[in-house]
Amino acid sequence: MASPPGFDLEQVRAEFPILSRKTYLNSCSLGALSRRSEAYLDEFRERWHDMGASAWYQHWLGRVEELRNRVASFWGSRPAEVALLPSTSAALSVISESVRAEGRNRVVCTELDFPTLLYQWVVKPEVELVVLESRDGVGVDLEQFAEAVDERTLFVATSHVFFTTGAVQDVAALAGIAHDAGAWCLIDGYQGMGQVPLDVAATGVDFYTGGPLKWLCGGPGLAYLYVRDDLIEDLEPRITSWFATEEQFAFDPRGFRYRSDARRFELGTPALPTVHTALGGQEIIDEVGLPAVVARNRHLTAHLVRACEDAGFELRLAPAERRSAIVMIRHADPAGAVRHLAERGVIVDHRPGFVRVSPHFYNTEAELDRCVDALAAYGR
Ligand SMILES: Cc1ncc(COP(=O)(O)O)c(C=O)c1O
Repeated sequence: MASPPGFDLEQVRAEFPILSRKTYLNSCSLGALSRRSEAYLDEFRERWHDMGASAWYQHWLGRVEELRNRVASFWGSRPAEVALLPSTSAALSVISESVRAEGRNRVVCTELDFPTLLYQWVVKPEVELVVLESRDGVGVDLEQFAEAVDERTLFVATSHVFFTTGAVQDVAALAGIAHDAGAWCLIDGYQGMGQVPLDVAATGVDFYTGGPLKWLCGGPGLAYLYVRDDLIEDLEPRITSWFATEEQFAFDPRGFRYRSDARRFELGTPALPTVHTALGGQEIIDEVGLPAVVARNRHLTAHLVRACEDAGFELRLAPAERRSAIVMIRHADPAGAVRHLAERGVIVDHRPGFVRVSPHFYNTEAELDRCVDALAAYGR
């Protein structure tokens, strides 16, 4: 097996057992589980057996901070700018409950964003939600944002990568548009983190959410929230927890004082099993290096696109410079096609009107060809 530049493909594949059992092409739903994550999970379980709650102080709080540090250096922030939360929805909620409206009531989102992002404001009757429509069904033009954002706007809240088109948005430009109008920029980066280049502090965004579930191969139960450091001390979330207070272990019901760092946005005990699986996935991605992952995913995506086009499939695709490793193949019976493929050991997904295929750095060209061949055999 020819290795791509930058890492040993066979060695990486050996870390992920599913790759020897299935043709796994659904990393944008759930990244594969590695042996490394499994080993850390075993370690967690054994410590639970051996030490019970004393493992909290001697080991587990340390693991939580290890993960925070890794996430911070991975996306280019300081650890003090990272909060750990149970889900993207919780991270978005805490931010929507942290800023003062100061006469602004407009939130600008798009119809391509993951619904949980819009729901944060749908449930707030005081908010005027502006939902930008996609002209090409793939992305939303920056000019549309610029036209919609004005002195009434509280948030520009949108995705880094759209979950059903794979189009990558220019988050630095979005932050500029928001800030020129005095609004906040909140980015849902769940589909971006781990598959596209990211230097979160350099983008200038105020808030960015990501998590280990998908491209970071770390499993469900955690989300990461970035809050720019110069904002933190002025934000006072109206939903909170004992993890958000400066003197957490004083257990003083009258002693609540927001922490001075991003932990003031945290909402209780983090999912420790996920802290362990997330560390395993993150370590592997860090060792391979994001530039090598990005390059590999570009190569695999180009291969998949060519194979689909050669087989006569119609794709919903962003232009090459805004493309990511989420490929949407138009299909008359997406659910049936996904079932057909699963019966043949090929795991992909579907969204209305499309089969969704999402290769990751550990996949091979042969796996993509197998998927396209099986899909072609089922029909269009
Ligand atoms: C872009 C995006 N945001 C958010 C979510 C889900 O958020 P949560 O962690 O709240 O389940 C998904 C899908 O799982 C997603 O693709």
